[in-house]
Amino acid sequence: MPHAEDSIIIEPLVTTKGSSFKFGATVSGVDIESLTDESFAVIRDALFTHQVLVFKAQSHVSPRAQYLLTNRFDPGATSYGHGNAIPSTQKSILHPDLKTIPHQPQVQVIGNGKVPEYEGLKNIQLRHPHHRTFHATQIPDEDDLNFTRFYRWHIDAALYGLAPPIVTTLLAVKVPGGRKQVVRYDDGTGDELEVPLGTTAFVSGEEMFEALAPEDQAFARTTRVEYAPHPYIWMSTARSRSDGLGLVSEGKELSLDKLPPVEESKIQILPMCWKNPVTGKLALQVHPSAVRRLHLGDGTVVEDLSEVREIVHHLQRPGIAPEKVYAHDWEEGDLVLFHNRGVLHSVVGAFAEEEVRLFRQCNVAATKLPEGP
Ligand SMILES: [Fe+2]
Repeated sequence: MPHAEDSIIIEPLVTTKGSSFKFGATVSGVDIESLTDESFAVIRDALFTHQVLVFKAQSHVSPRAQYLLTNRFDPGATSYGHGNAIPSTQKSILHPDLKTIPHQPQVQVIGNGKVPEYEGLKNIQLRHPHHRTFHATQIPDEDDLNFTRFYRWHIDAALYGLAPPIVTTLLAVKVPGGRKQVVRYDDGTGDELEVPLGTTAFVSGEEMFEALAPEDQAFARTTRVEYAPHPYIWMSTARSRSDGLGLVSEGKELSLDKLPPVEESKIQILPMCWKNPVTGKLALQVHPSAVRRLHLGDGTVVEDLSEVREIVHHLQRPGIAPEKVYAHDWEEGDLVLFHNRGVLHSVVGAFAEEEVRLFRQCNVAATKLPEGP
């Protein structure tokens, strides 16, 4: 049922045939550029209820207003979710994909193709991540424009030192038109999903948790997840599963002596389930590529990386089944606000060289770690 307050209308997403996810809503009757406290209260409540909110026709929103909306969820937080730009001498897998807006450094430009000028950035070359640079196996070249993969299911989070951002905002400034692609899971299930070109795919961590068998729910409630130090450098030499949900175990991760100095106090051991601050629901929230160890409720520590990954994949894989995925069909001016502590998301798709896409992304490292059960 649409719900109105102060003329803001919140309508749950209408799912297409074959889909069964129950999250996401569109919001109308609000201008992000000039957001009142009353409107923000409605948006905040809606966000924690629906997990992903879509605002149409927000092309005019400034990087500053985008930052202010994002920051309002955690007013004490000020720095970008991954902290300061990572020095280019270090081979983090995140580095090539982000350009920082000089006058609003918490806002990043991402996309594909050459852009002569945007918000003080000149002659930038954007590169949509392609699964061939990260996955252990690839879709054959001749199928590459019609078929694609989930690039990497993740939470936006440094997972070392900085607390995971509460929300992320994405604004579509320029969107190339209209092709569709088919995502292949390529994991022996035959699963496939037709998606719009360059979609962002979301799944709900709450639905992922709710769908677990009772014994798996009990395991998830009581287990804590230890992340690798400098996880994006650590994993830079490893390769992803074909479904984008975590890495294959080939012993390719960088050893600790090849990483920048590690500060023990920055290593994060987080609950496997994170509690929604408004509804109290639990979401299964694990960044599958960055996982290093599991700390079980009885005190056992699962050290073997391959075993750790199998356990996490077993818990998460049902939650990314085709019917559980919301693949947003981007239009220019769409602003998507998502609960980064309640969903997983993935870049999808392969653009041709000349297909120009420009997005702005913003999140801020939180002031507190997520709460468990
Ligand atoms: Fe992301």
